[in-house]
Amino acid sequence: MKASVWLRVGGAVALAVYASGQVCAQTNLTAQITVHADRPGAVIHPEIYGQFAEQLGAGIYGGIWVGEHSSIPNIKGYRKDVVEALKAIKVPVVRWPGGCFADQYDWRDGIGPRDKRPVHMNASWGGDDGNQFGTHEFMDFAELIGAKTYISINVGTGTPRQMSQWIEYITADGHSSLAQQRRANGRDKPWKLDYVGIGNEMWGCGGSMRPAFYADVYRQYATFVHAPANLPITRVASGANGDDVHWTDTLMAAAGSQIDAISLHNYTIPTGDWTHKGSATQFGEDQWMSTLRGALRMDDLIARHVAAMDKYDPTKRIALDVDEWGIWTDPQPGANTPALYQQNSLRDAVSAAVTLDIFQAHADRVRMANIAQMVNVLQAMILTDQSRMLLTPTYYVFDLYKVFQGATSLPIDVHAPLYRYGKVAIPGVHATAGRDAAGGVHVALVNLDPHHADTVHVRLLGMHAAKVTGRMLTGSAVNAINTFDHPHAVQPVGFDGATLKDGVITATLVPKSVTVLDIR
Ligand code: AHR
Repeated sequence: MKASVWLRVGGAVALAVYASGQVCAQTNLTAQITVHADRPGAVIHPEIYGQFAEQLGAGIYGGIWVGEHSSIPNIKGYRKDVVEALKAIKVPVVRWPGGCFADQYDWRDGIGPRDKRPVHMNASWGGDDGNQFGTHEFMDFAELIGAKTYISINVGTGTPRQMSQWIEYITADGHSSLAQQRRANGRDKPWKLDYVGIGNEMWGCGGSMRPAFYADVYRQYATFVHAPANLPITRVASGANGDDVHWTDTLMAAAGSQIDAISLHNYTIPTGDWTHKGSATQFGEDQWMSTLRGALRMDDLIARHVAAMDKYDPTKRIALDVDEWGIWTDPQPGANTPALYQQNSLRDAVSAAVTLDIFQAHADRVRMANIAQMVNVLQAMILTDQSRMLLTPTYYVFDLYKVFQGATSLPIDVHAPLYRYGKVAIPGVHATAGRDAAGGVHVALVNLDPHHADTVHVRLLGMHAAKVTGRMLTGSAVNAINTFDHPHAVQPVGFDGATLKDGVITATLVPKSVTVLDIR
């Protein structure tokens, strides 16, 4: 006898098909998807495709900044290859300088002539930081790649005065001493500072605070964020660690009126054990499953924090910004491996795609997200080795999904078989949809099952489709990677396997793949 089980997944619904209690053993499974183009939802803020670049390991030094005199081709000190790659995926916003680094950072150490800047120990991540990449280098970098700016303020060891002077230095247009100092240091016009984070992980490395205490500290700092009238700054409160909804609830109750956004940090640890996180490349199907299951958990996490926010802010004025997320594995083995350096496989790509789907399903509340991190750190877009650079599978998901930036989200129902490993089952297909400003509809389809292809039938309601094209990313194995010697092993290819008949699109998704359809 057949039975059906319905699950809610990332704002979509998945159907598990059982036969005598077992998942149907098929080599080619079938899924039904309905896209409600007739019921447009919230705008997908481009900033959910944001990045995080912390001053640690080779994230900044070597990864972005090599200095003007480097033999590595550069634009005023920024790696040319990295700048071009980041521009190509339209990075909408960059968060800097941390992370934990931010709460020990003194912005005055990072301005003025570079050869006069002090060298400090990086107490959070090891090594020294010579402050060669400071405020000017960050703000100019963001301008160069066309991204908005998000600065994490030092609350842990700093003061409201240091914060307000930093903001004045960056944004003042008049003749104040700080504006003049900025001009003397080479920048005439003020920069646009888009977001300030009032501390980072205040429950942990930011000062081990309890939520009620931090709520008051937040109120104090937020009072002194003086933005120029024409250049507003979004104030982001340091939010919860994973499922700590009590943190969100306390902040909303005590400081909600002064908060523009609350952050959320959540990392996916393949083994679930922070002391032994698992390898980025040497893993089997058990950790493929546990990692994707961890990524899917983001939906429930967001839903729970949103429920707490809804109590105080039913009109959704305040955003939930997931400003650190991604897979965190053990660092790559090796004596000289920079801090938090890990490889990036097809598993990272599929996990990122599922997470981005979930953000889009919550587009009415999630208005920024920053993957950790941009270059050479954790789940990076880009890896570098001296003059060489490679684009990771995660980069290519951001490339495939850039069509969703600024699109209108479209509700989507997914009825798909479960993918099962041992006693664990998750939806075999995950999806998201959006309509861009030109009227084109984009549907992303992720096949999480590493063994079975899935033939999907996509029905579009409220749209007459005339043409469908696509791009697809997969790899030879779940742990397929790009290396400096073989940098193109995992990269997108054109997808011409979709057919259109009577308004229904049929496409076969190969196992462990991400496909994005473009429908006109
Ligand atoms: O991204 C690495 C670290 O993870 C950040 O510095 C911190 O905020 C988080 O714990």
